[in-house]
Amino acid sequence: MKIPFFNYADRYAEDREKIKEIVYNVGTSDNFILKERVNEFEQEIGRYTGAKYVIAVANGTTALTILLKAMGVGPGVEVLTPAFSFISTASSIALLGGTPVFVDVDPHTGMMDPDDLRRRMTSASRVVIPTHLFSVMADMKAINEIAREHNLIVLEDSAVALGGRQNGAMAGLLGDAGLYSFFPAKPLGGIGDGAVIVTDNDDFGRISRMLRNHGQDGITRFYHHMLGYNNRMDETVAAYLSHKLMRYDNLLNRRREIALKYNEAFGSLAPMVQVVTEAHDERVYYTYVLQAEKRDELRSHLQSRGIETQIYYPAALPLQPAFAYLGHKPGDFPNAEAITGRSLALPLYAEMPDEHVHEVIQAVSEFYAEVKIHA
Ligand SMILES: Cc1ncc(COP(=O)(O)O)c(C=O)c1O
Repeated sequence: MKIPFFNYADRYAEDREKIKEIVYNVGTSDNFILKERVNEFEQEIGRYTGAKYVIAVANGTTALTILLKAMGVGPGVEVLTPAFSFISTASSIALLGGTPVFVDVDPHTGMMDPDDLRRRMTSASRVVIPTHLFSVMADMKAINEIAREHNLIVLEDSAVALGGRQNGAMAGLLGDAGLYSFFPAKPLGGIGDGAVIVTDNDDFGRISRMLRNHGQDGITRFYHHMLGYNNRMDETVAAYLSHKLMRYDNLLNRRREIALKYNEAFGSLAPMVQVVTEAHDERVYYTYVLQAEKRDELRSHLQSRGIETQIYYPAALPLQPAFAYLGHKPGDFPNAEAITGRSLALPLYAEMPDEHVHEVIQAVSEFYAEVKIHA
């Protein structure tokens, strides 16, 4: 049996005809970029999330860049960002000339550690980026409290968390601004790159809207209020996302159903396997990541059973060659570094058949039963 990790073929199968129709309709119109379909999609995300401003952009990385720029990040400004995350949460700061200040993560959840956040901030810190990764949410209550005390702006990296909630409030709107990515692998995956910025803050909303399109205000063409980017969303991408958004909650529910089966099976494998099973957040199960003893052997075992897995992420961000100039060394971020040696992502997507879910559970359980026998 072959159990693929993302399985784009199955995830997009239902929409094949719709995608053809969208490409035909947009391709035979004169409206390719940032027109009525993008406008409609922005309104739909506004209704879905309750955000005051929704700004559709080319991808999640650019959403971070635009927001950081709108928040005044540049040379001499420090931004606090997790040591364990996707590269964008740190590279976007550095590419604006700002300084990423890495914060270690909680050893269990892998999310930004509020205590370490207090330790690492300085008088030059202006923004903090709590990030929700895979299916776990950052502790927004603690981070917001610290941010309020120290006058920090909170940019919530909710790229993978559209539809998640904490204490009833929508991910993306738990800080001062957030974003959702629609890269095809994401829970609301599009047909190409795409993302939206969400915020209730008038300044961040107004400035972000201009920054995505060469500093124009969307009213007077070729009048540039500021230097901006060409980081707009295409009409084909928006039209497809509008279509998929209609069934998004069902997709999330199926993801949750699979994750609960995994939680139940893997929770009992502690301490060899560590999973976040606490249910105080309404989480979006983007990918299912566990921390595993003998991770590489487990991965080989799963591969021999036809089960594809991924490693998110193989190195802590401060130790990536791209950040060598910051001078961090092994041991500076012990929790993030430990997680990179233990983390393994298992297949999880809404169209995944029960049979495959069962097979993954069997294969992982079998592996640890063997480990126990030989211990
Ligand atoms: C946490 C996080 N932030 C930001 C991004 C960037 O999104 P995009 O791939 O749309 O640029 C990703 C993408 O994987 C992500 O996982």
